Amino acid sequence: MFQTAMTLPPFSQEGNPVSLSRIPSSAIRYCQITDRTCNIDNLPEPQQECSVRAICVEEVTGQSCRFCLSCCLGKTCRLGGPCVDDDIAEDGSMILDLFKLDGRVALVTGASRGLGQSMALGLAEAGADIVGLSSSGDCQEIEALVVETGRRFWPFRCDLSQPADRVGLVDRILEQTGHLDILVNNAGISHRHPPEEYPLSEWHQLMEVHLHASFDLSQQAARHMLVRGRGKVINIGSVMSYEGGLNIPAYAAAKHALAGLTKSLANSWGRQGINVNCICPGYFETTMSHVLQDDPVRGPQILDRIPVGRWGQPDELAGLCVFLASDAANYLHGSCIAIDGGWLSR
Ligand SMILES: NC(=O)c1ccc[n+]([C@@H]2O[C@H](COP(=O)([O-])OP(=O)(O)OC[C@H]3O[C@@H](n4cnc5c(N)ncnc54)[C@H](OP(=O)(O)O)[C@@H]3O)[C@@H](O)[C@H]2O)c1
Repeated sequence: MFQTAMTLPPFSQEGNPVSLSRIPSSAIRYCQITDRTCNIDNLPEPQQECSVRAICVEEVTGQSCRFCLSCCLGKTCRLGGPCVDDDIAEDGSMILDLFKLDGRVALVTGASRGLGQSMALGLAEAGADIVGLSSSGDCQEIEALVVETGRRFWPFRCDLSQPADRVGLVDRILEQTGHLDILVNNAGISHRHPPEEYPLSEWHQLMEVHLHASFDLSQQAARHMLVRGRGKVINIGSVMSYEGGLNIPAYAAAKHALAGLTKSLANSWGRQGINVNCICPGYFETTMSHVLQDDPVRGPQILDRIPVGRWGQPDELAGLCVFLASDAANYLHGSCIAIDGGWLSR
């Protein structure tokens, strides 16, 4: 068997550049994905669909790749995407292209304010059209910001604490958008009580919004994404995905569970082109956290413990969200990434 020393990415998705690699002519003969030599008897004409590459990719991902190795010969190949001439690849612009989200549609729950609004705007600035969901439907502010970027915005009203309201939600969204590429499970609430006094009704409500809705929407979205062989699910955890906090037993339990859910879904769907990851913010200035910021005891205590000495601003989360939603993160699966001003390192 003929083999080359080059490393191919683990898989590619149709029209979805995953990596920059120079492809020597010898690479056509050997596929490291399937660990076997491809049949090169029927090499297609350059620019035509490539049966050789398609066979290899299909065996692993169930998806065929439109773009062939042979048309990339002598060029720099973005596997799964159109190949480019060397001078384009070497001018440094290609890496930033991987972060572009043009043509993608992102559903952001809890987009009406706070971290969700900031991430929705970041995704739009990177090129995505946005579906903004909240229970109030009060999304005028983020709608105006998204439209200003030249992207489309669809407001959706849904109370995620109500399982009945979630039934068929993604299908209803798809009727408007046609497709869905990115899901950000961000919507959240917070209740604070000593555990011995914590009302069970609030426990259940919080679990519905943070955990059950995240799984429900991920499942609904994945049924669509699996067919297309691509998709990004981004859960919003917390530093409370690692810590217990004070008087927030339901919140800490839900955020720990979201980290576990992230890893479980990533294990199941990674090979089929879906990335599932989790952002774990520290303390950010939003409506949810005002009660802590304004607390004369806890406010200064928290501030004092944050290594960078300040609370996070919502727009400081957008870059990480765009990265996770983009092709630059195609090899990132099941990761929980803290963005916390150093809180967890302390
Ligand atoms: N702020 C922080 O310091 C911090 C830290 C770590 C993690 N987080 C997490 O980040 C996420 C966003 O928090 P945030 O600080 O931005 O909170 P926020 O400012 O209070 O915003 C919460 C968002 O969730 C929506 N929402 C609440 N209940 C909902 C429901 N039942 N159905 C649909 N949407 C609902 C709200 O819209 P409506 O009111 O219109 O429903 C709003 O858009 C949460 O998951 C939170 O746990 C925040």
